[in-house]
Amino acid sequence: MRDRYDNPLSTTSPDARDHYVEAVDRLLAGQPGITTAFSRAVEADPGFALGYAGLARGYQFEGNMKMAKSAMDQARQVGQTGDDREASHLNAFGLLINGKAAEAYVAIRAHVDAYPRDALVAQTCSSVFGLIGFSGQPGREAEILAYTAALLPHYGEDWWCLSQYAFALCENGAQHKASAVIDQSLALNPRNANGAHVRSHIYYESGETDLGIAYLDDWLKPYDRAGYLHGHLSWHSALWSLEQGEVETMWQRIDADVQPGVAQGLPINVLTDTASILYRAELAGVDVPKERWKAVSDYALQFFPNATLGFIDIHSALAHAMAGNVEAVARLIEAPNATTGDLVTPVAQAYAAIARQSWAEAVDLLVSAMGDHARLGGSRAQRDLLEFSLLGALLKLGKDEEAKHLLALRRPALVGMRSVHGLRAH
Ligand SMILES: [Fe+2]
Repeated sequence: MRDRYDNPLSTTSPDARDHYVEAVDRLLAGQPGITTAFSRAVEADPGFALGYAGLARGYQFEGNMKMAKSAMDQARQVGQTGDDREASHLNAFGLLINGKAAEAYVAIRAHVDAYPRDALVAQTCSSVFGLIGFSGQPGREAEILAYTAALLPHYGEDWWCLSQYAFALCENGAQHKASAVIDQSLALNPRNANGAHVRSHIYYESGETDLGIAYLDDWLKPYDRAGYLHGHLSWHSALWSLEQGEVETMWQRIDADVQPGVAQGLPINVLTDTASILYRAELAGVDVPKERWKAVSDYALQFFPNATLGFIDIHSALAHAMAGNVEAVARLIEAPNATTGDLVTPVAQAYAAIARQSWAEAVDLLVSAMGDHARLGGSRAQRDLLEFSLLGALLKLGKDEEAKHLLALRRPALVGMRSVHGLRAH
C-alpha cells in the first residue's frame, strides 16, 4: 500500500489506505472532514499507526488538543510496524502534538530531508502559520522560500507543493512568479483553500481590490464553513469590502464569518482576524463600538491568558488596549514570550498609547518595532496592521508628508488605497 505521494504505508487494508489518502488531501486543501476521514482509516485497520498520527494532527487543526494527544497515544500503543519513515514520522508528530515545538522542528527538518514527499510532515513548515513562520527568527520569510523551493523538485506538478511555493514567493515580493505558480496549482485543484488563499494574497499585494474580492467571494460561496480557512478567507473579503467603502458588507462578513462565536477556525485565527479587521476599520475612518473590542479582549483572555506566540500577543494587546483592559496589556509586557517578546513589548505599549491618544509616544514605539516585524509571524497583509497603525498615528500628529513617504517606501503597491483615513488625499 502507498499513499498519493508514493510513500509506503504499513496497512494492508485498501479501505484504510483510501481513507488515509482522502484525509491527507483534505488537510492539505483546507477542506472539512479531516478527522472523520482519518477515523475511518483507523476503523478500517485498527493497527494503522500512521492513521492515528494523522488523526492527532487533524484534531490539532480543530483545536482539540486533548483528542490529539489521545490519538497520538493510540499511535504509540499500536506500535511501529512499518519502515524507518513511519518511525521517524511518528516521532516527529509525537513531539509536535505534545507541544515540544523546538525538538519537533529539528526532527521534522531531518525527516523532510530524508523523506521530502511525506507531505503531511513537510506541511508543518511550509506556510506563514508553521514552525518556520512562527520561529521568531530573523530571515524566516526567506527560509520558507528556500524550504518550499527545495521541496519542488521532489513534487513536480503537485497542487499542494506549488501552492506553498507560490505563497513563499508572494511573501518575499515575487508577485509575478507567484501568480504564475498559483495559477498552475489552482488548475490542478481549484478547490484547494490554501491555493485560493495564496491567490487572494497576490491580489492584495498587487493592490487589486476589485479583482480580489470578485474572485474570493465567488470561491467562498461553495466553501464549507467548517473548512479551517473559512474564517480567515472571510477576513480577507471583509478587508476588501472596507477598502471598497462597503462598510455594511464588511460588518455583515465580520458578524457572519469572522468574529468569536461564529467562526469555526482555530482561536489564533478568530482572535487575530477579528482584532485586525476592527482596527483596520478604525484606521479607515469607521466607528467601532467599544463592546466589539470588549468581546475580542474577553476571547483573547479566554484562549490566550498568557504570552504565547508574538503574532497572537500583539493582537491580544491591541484588543485589550482598545477595550480599556490596561491590566491585561501590562501582563503581556511583564511576562513576554521568549522569542519575540522584544518586539511584542513596544507594540503592546504602542497600542496602550494609542488608546490614550498619546500619538507621539505611539509613533516612537511602533518605529522601534518596524525594523524586522516579520519575526512576529503572520503574512505581510496581516502585519500591515502595524504599518498602518504607524501611519494613522503620524496623521494624528499632522505629519502627513512623513506618512505618505513611509507608505511609498515600505508598501509601494498600496499607495493610493483607502486603508488609512486621510492619507489618500495627500
Ligand atoms: Fe491570509
